Amino acid sequence: MSKVTASAPGKLMLFGEHAVVYGYPCLVTAVDMRVWVSVVLQKEPQIDLDVSIASREYTVPLRMLSEAEPSFPGDISFVMAVVQRIFRQFNLKTGLKISSEGPTDSYGLGSSSSVTVATATALNQLLDLNLSKSELFSICYGAVLDVQGKASGYDVAAAIYGGTLYYAKHGQTIRRLTVDKLPIMIGYSGNKVQTVQYVNQVYQLRQQQPELVNHIFDLIRRIVDLAHAAIIEQKWHEVGQLVNISQGLLDSLGVNTLSLTTIILAARAEGALGAKLSGAGGGDCMFAVCDEADLSSIGSAIERVGSKRVDLETNVSGVRIE
Ligand code: PMV
Repeated sequence: MSKVTASAPGKLMLFGEHAVVYGYPCLVTAVDMRVWVSVVLQKEPQIDLDVSIASREYTVPLRMLSEAEPSFPGDISFVMAVVQRIFRQFNLKTGLKISSEGPTDSYGLGSSSSVTVATATALNQLLDLNLSKSELFSICYGAVLDVQGKASGYDVAAAIYGGTLYYAKHGQTIRRLTVDKLPIMIGYSGNKVQTVQYVNQVYQLRQQQPELVNHIFDLIRRIVDLAHAAIIEQKWHEVGQLVNISQGLLDSLGVNTLSLTTIILAARAEGALGAKLSGAGGGDCMFAVCDEADLSSIGSAIERVGSKRVDLETNVSGVRIE
């Protein structure tokens, strides 16, 4: 059979980060930062990987897939984790060539979940596995957990289903919001962080202050529910207020940084309805909710404090065969 290519979007966490790791709900939107993965069968008993983002090539002998805990280089860890899960589930023994392409700088907006989902979707088509979206979700979420240890799976859901999602209980609840584009400007604080490091930090804080952190998580849940309704009704002033309250709670969890605060305050001073960090914290991205007319001046305010304005379409489609 010939080559199959799939592409999957990145994601922007809107509300509910960290709490979502413990089954609480979050809101996420898929963003137009796609990763493409192509797969083709080959006779050699090996998997050849061409990772164009890293300008590197790797060869993995098929026998490594039956090792209990094979260790793969970081560039191919997510792709190999999902390949291994699919090969085991379907008892496959075929050689493959896999190539991936995507943006060199993804600003922490989801390249690992996108590449996992695009790989699984391309293999599903190439090998006629007939996996449904929810089966793909389980396999891909499992693969992400194999690599990261702890994760909520929200980014996998965004890559598979696209749009803007209400996501809870590790994927038991996934609902699509009826919404058009979101009036959002994204800023990149300039330093990439390891999500796991911050997930562990919040885990520690919750061990030490269980009552307080659980109250904060309950507030976050309430905010997610209010934001869910406000987004559907396009009440952007209310969404902005909820964004600002969320930022305060994330700060209280200890995941804010000076550079994120600087961009967030600059966006608010320029008239943003609200601004908060997005994702694990410790760096990466923030976003501001604004009146449509103010988007470009808020983008300029983000640049004036030395940060990168990231213009991306939100609410885009999920994984697809190209
Ligand atoms: O830093 P990101 O964009 O990968 O987001 C992490 C969000 C967390 O809630 C902290 C972790 C997770 O898996 O949900």
